[in-house]
Amino acid sequence: MKPLIVLNWKNHPASWKEAKELFKATQKAVDKSRSLTLIVAPPTIYLREIAAGYKGKRIAFAAQGVHWDEEGGHTGEMTVAQAYDAGVSHVLIGHAERRARGETPDDTRRLLTAALQHDLIPILCVGELERSHEGEHFAFIREQLRIAFSDVSPTKMAKVIIAYEPVWAIGAEEPMSPREMHEMSIFIRKTIHDLYGKVGLSLHVLYGGAIDHRSAGQMLGLGDVQGLLVGRASADSEKVLSLLISLQRVK
Ligand code: PGA
Repeated sequence: MKPLIVLNWKNHPASWKEAKELFKATQKAVDKSRSLTLIVAPPTIYLREIAAGYKGKRIAFAAQGVHWDEEGGHTGEMTVAQAYDAGVSHVLIGHAERRARGETPDDTRRLLTAALQHDLIPILCVGELERSHEGEHFAFIREQLRIAFSDVSPTKMAKVIIAYEPVWAIGAEEPMSPREMHEMSIFIRKTIHDLYGKVGLSLHVLYGGAIDHRSAGQMLGLGDVQGLLVGRASADSEKVLSLLISLQRVK
C-alpha cells in the first residue's frame, strides 16, 4: 500500500503569496518522491484557490475542520458541504488543537457522521494528553474511538482513517518511539475489531506528533502505521522535500 502523508499547514503561512510558494514547492517535492498519497490541509482561507489551481493527480486536499450542521448561525465555521464544494476529499476531525478549543467527543461523533454523509473521508484524530505507568491512556483512546464511532455503520467504518496523535508529542522536539506506536496501532485495530469485527484489521492508522525528515522513515517502517500526519514540518518547503525524500528508503 502507498503511504499516506497528510500535511497539516495549521495557520501557516502568513500570506497568500507564501501559501502559493509553499504549495508549489510541495508539488515539486511530491514529483521527486516515491509513490505515495499526499494530502494537503491548508488554512480555509487558501483552500479553494489552491485546490482549484491544482491540475495534477498526486495531491488531494483536506479541510482542517468543519461544522456538522448543514447551515445555520455558526460564525467563523465552514460546513461539510462547503468544504466538499471547495474541492476537498478528506477532513480532519477531532484534532487536538480543536479539542483544546472545545470540540467534545460528542462533537466528533456528529462530525464523523456528517463527513461520511457528504462522502468526505474523515481523518479522525485521537490522542491522550499525558501518559501514566498504569496505562490509562489505552482506556482513554478506546473511549474517544467508541464515542466518535457510535453512529457509524460497519460499511462506512471502512472509509475512516484514524490518526493517533499523542497530545504531548504535538509541537514537541521528538515524536513517540515507533515501538510505542506499534503497540498503540495494535490496540486501535483491536478496539475497532471489538466494536465492528474484521474491518478493524484493515484499518488505516496514521501517526502524528513532531514528525520530520529525521523520524518519518523509521515511524513508517517500524510503527505499524500506513502514514503520517505532519504539522510544523509541512509549512517549511525544504523540510517537506527532505521528508518526502527520506521515505524513499522505506519498504
Ligand atoms: P507537529 O503537529 O508535527 O507540529 O508536532 C502535528 C499535528 O498537530 O498534527
